[in-house]
Amino acid sequence: MSDSVRVFAPAKINLFLHVGDRRADGFHALQSLVVFAEVGDELELRRSATTSLSIQGPFAEGLDGGDDNLVLKAARLMSLEAAISLTKNLPVASGIGGGSADAAAALRGLAQLWSLKDGERLARLAAPEIGSDVPVCVDSKPAWMEGRGEILTPVAGLPAMPMVLVNPGVSTPTAKVFRALQRRRGATLAPVLSFGGPDDLLAFLRATGNDLEAPAIGLWPVIGETLTLLSAQRGALLTRMSGSGATCFGLFERGEDAERAANVIALAHADWWVRATRIAQ
Ligand code: C5P
Repeated sequence: MSDSVRVFAPAKINLFLHVGDRRADGFHALQSLVVFAEVGDELELRRSATTSLSIQGPFAEGLDGGDDNLVLKAARLMSLEAAISLTKNLPVASGIGGGSADAAAALRGLAQLWSLKDGERLARLAAPEIGSDVPVCVDSKPAWMEGRGEILTPVAGLPAMPMVLVNPGVSTPTAKVFRALQRRRGATLAPVLSFGGPDDLLAFLRATGNDLEAPAIGLWPVIGETLTLLSAQRGALLTRMSGSGATCFGLFERGEDAERAANVIALAHADWWVRATRIAQ
């Protein structure tokens, strides 16, 4: 048994997100195709008799390390102790699962640190208690997501497409975006569980959308400006907001176009968060 483990918490991207009816528990039924990026937060967990959390990195300031932090909630739910160090590379409350990805990584890391025999099962049980996006982040693999986020089916054949992530620096609380939601496409699609390559994926995505994009743009018009700028970049094939925003993504065929787009946008907006990455396999 090792005294410490390191876990990666990759950014989650909703390639599409359709919202259905509001359920009796107050959450909306969703459908989403979720993938992960090659950028993310990093956690290091050390064995300890008491649990603690220290946060550093570019977005440490925007984050409360107190009891409400989802990483600490994960530790409480697993009834396991660890000294946890979180390097916060992803913007906070930004639609790419930062807090959820960190909590899911903490669940994985705790089970590994303490060599829990049924750790995977415990992590899966605890995940929905922490938040709707946590279950998909436990495996961090491409998935067709339904329910409030807890019904997951693996998706095969996702191409490692170059992708640019852009966050214009506004924090967009999920509940506020859902409250402003007017038009819903409904959660009625037949699941698509494999893709034949970039053209197949793009054709499917073009027939879908993110229902939370319009309400988020209504609340924070800079998201609309972000999408306009991304879609104007050479080689941008599809641009959309992820989750409840404000991070937007652009899919590209060529890595060099994605790199170029990221450089152009970062130069024009020094205070935005911009990364060229890929759909992780
Ligand atoms: O589960 P999570 O903490 O991410 O949800 C934040 C808020 O977003 C919920 O309180 C709810 O208002 C809204 N939500 C929803 N339906 C979902 C997921 C989130 O209405 N499937």
